[in-house]
Amino acid sequence: MTRKILVTSALPYANGPLHIGHLIEYIQTDIWVRYQRLAGNQCQWVWADDAHGTAIMLRAEKEGISPETLIDRMKVEHERDIEGFLLSPDNFHTTHSEENKYCAELMYEKLRDAGHIVRRTIQQLYDAEKEMFLPDRYVKGTCPNCKSPDQYGDNCEVCSATYAAIDLIDPVSQVSGAKPVLKDSEQLFFAASHFTDMLKEWTSGPAVQDEIANKLKEWLDNGLHDWDISRNSPYFGFEIPDAPGKYFYVWLDAPIAYMASHKHLAQRTGEDYLKTWEPNSDVELYHFIGKDISNFHCLFWPAMLEGAGFRKPTGVFCHGFLMVDDAKMSKSRGTSVTAETWLKFLKPEYLRYYYATKLNSGMVDLNLNLDDFINRVNADLVGKVVNIASRCAGFISKQFDGKLAPVYAESLQADYDHFVSAKTIIGDYYEQREYGKAMREIMLLAEHANTYINDEEPWVKIKDENARDEVQQICTAGLNYFRIIMTYLSPVLPELAQKTEQFLNTQLTLDGLAQPLVDHKIEKFKPLLTRVERTQVDKIIEATRESAEASSDAGSVASASNNKEASLEPLKAEISIDDFSKVDLRIATIVDAQEVKGADKLVQLTLDIGIEKRNVFAGIKSAYAPADLIGRKTVMVANLAPRKMRFGLSEGMVLAAGPGGSDLFILTPDEGADNGMRVK
Ligand code: 2FM
Ligand code: ZN
Repeated sequence: MTRKILVTSALPYANGPLHIGHLIEYIQTDIWVRYQRLAGNQCQWVWADDAHGTAIMLRAEKEGISPETLIDRMKVEHERDIEGFLLSPDNFHTTHSEENKYCAELMYEKLRDAGHIVRRTIQQLYDAEKEMFLPDRYVKGTCPNCKSPDQYGDNCEVCSATYAAIDLIDPVSQVSGAKPVLKDSEQLFFAASHFTDMLKEWTSGPAVQDEIANKLKEWLDNGLHDWDISRNSPYFGFEIPDAPGKYFYVWLDAPIAYMASHKHLAQRTGEDYLKTWEPNSDVELYHFIGKDISNFHCLFWPAMLEGAGFRKPTGVFCHGFLMVDDAKMSKSRGTSVTAETWLKFLKPEYLRYYYATKLNSGMVDLNLNLDDFINRVNADLVGKVVNIASRCAGFISKQFDGKLAPVYAESLQADYDHFVSAKTIIGDYYEQREYGKAMREIMLLAEHANTYINDEEPWVKIKDENARDEVQQICTAGLNYFRIIMTYLSPVLPELAQKTEQFLNTQLTLDGLAQPLVDHKIEKFKPLLTRVERTQVDKIIEATRESAEASSDAGSVASASNNKEASLEPLKAEISIDDFSKVDLRIATIVDAQEVKGADKLVQLTLDIGIEKRNVFAGIKSAYAPADLIGRKTVMVANLAPRKMRFGLSEGMVLAAGPGGSDLFILTPDEGADNGMRVK
């Protein structure tokens, strides 16, 4: 029977690029969704950008643009990377949409009318300078438990204690540096406590992995606290209908966007999306998420759904985090690789395959060991899988005019059946998210196919005029094995599968495997995949490291923008004359300019400011050859704290304007301005 399935992945925040850490989840989801479609099920994947909240509001402010401009730009970038990594969502929407506003209000009103929303006045930390209430992550102070300094407002990274931000000792606003004050504020709470019993039962059922259920048990046994779902203005989000000046907390409307993205998709498909969300729906609903956000998905979200009269998820699939060479991703080590950087140097399918070999249904962190990555991909995909086709195809096209044998040799039928019957176990592994096991089964088949070809030696037999039919049989069997293997791999390697379809001149479907391909014309074989080289991986790491250095921009170059429409850019937030007078701008003569070995973007400048010389690494190589800079005068920030870079100490910043690339212009003073003069 055809199953109806709705799948979601966690929503990426719209204030940063997608990186290889995110991709674990998106690739895990995509493989599962593609497998379901291959198996003949109706499977929809709805997804979106997570566009609300303080972080996005402040980031936009810092860039001097509106939050809407920021999230629109990020959505375009995210969609580019989604396509680049061959991810196949049916819809990618945003939490900042008409549909989500509708669904969030619907959910809220249903919860309120059922008596699950309460109002209460609480004390919160308030930044009087910025005129805003401070979210927990925007205040730091001394841990009330172990007295460690510099801890966030929600928990201590030293002793792991969790506490309320108002309990921090000597709190400091991370937004303005001011000392926050306590201020009363009425907030709206979702009475999660009404659902403790339901959640105890639901989390111990099949929807939640045991490990997660055990973790959540602690929360549930202590009784759930009511959940603050409102935030005060200024906030980027949806204003709560009956609470002017209050906004839905980003974590309230984020999961609701699963429903909203589905609603948006339904405008294209014409389906009645709400039926999926009714309590007795026949559609299975699965959420793929990281283990860090299980409380939102396994406590608050199912409680909200239940409270508002909707169905609960069929399953929440949590995964672990990414490690690279056994360490957390790091910008300075160059392992915090964005999707965009990866795609500049390597195909998406190499990463898709490697992740597949490492993924399972558990929550253990996945280690991307770069040497192992290169070896695994080359040995399996190039050495085992594609090799089958490249060893057989030449004989078929050159000797047999591209035609496979007229009938399949009876002596080979049992082996063929063995390959086909593997679909049950491989399918089960996909279904259970045990992709590593599925890949091992498939590689066993690939080894079997290679052994068969080795043993039969068609390259020897072809010399014997009487063995021509036999060679055609051998190569027909080899290419049929390749067809079966590529069908099994198609959820992981969709592009390679598509090229295989063109080459074999057939569609790759599970049902189609029942009969071998015989008496069938295939296309000329073109190389399907090349080996991964260490130099490509090194380039990815180097580019990541460099962009981290160039973007921690103090000390390199203060450019007007990296936005092509520089002249149309809105102004940055206002600063006081006192703020401005802290900046010591000086006329500097560039007395030397050198290439920086190993850096794509930097030029090393020696700047004479009269009283002394300064060494500055400036990110202007895209616009200037070092030799052209020597002898020119420019303007520098002379009192910027020195910054240690990989190439040395940078002691200031030169000023430049322009969108970036070759359109970057260092500021040059009029004749008469001399080095050392202060810019007034
Ligand atoms: O943790 C995160 O990255 C969140 N943006 C995930 C939201 S998932 C869901 F609830 F929408
Ligand atoms: Zn502590």
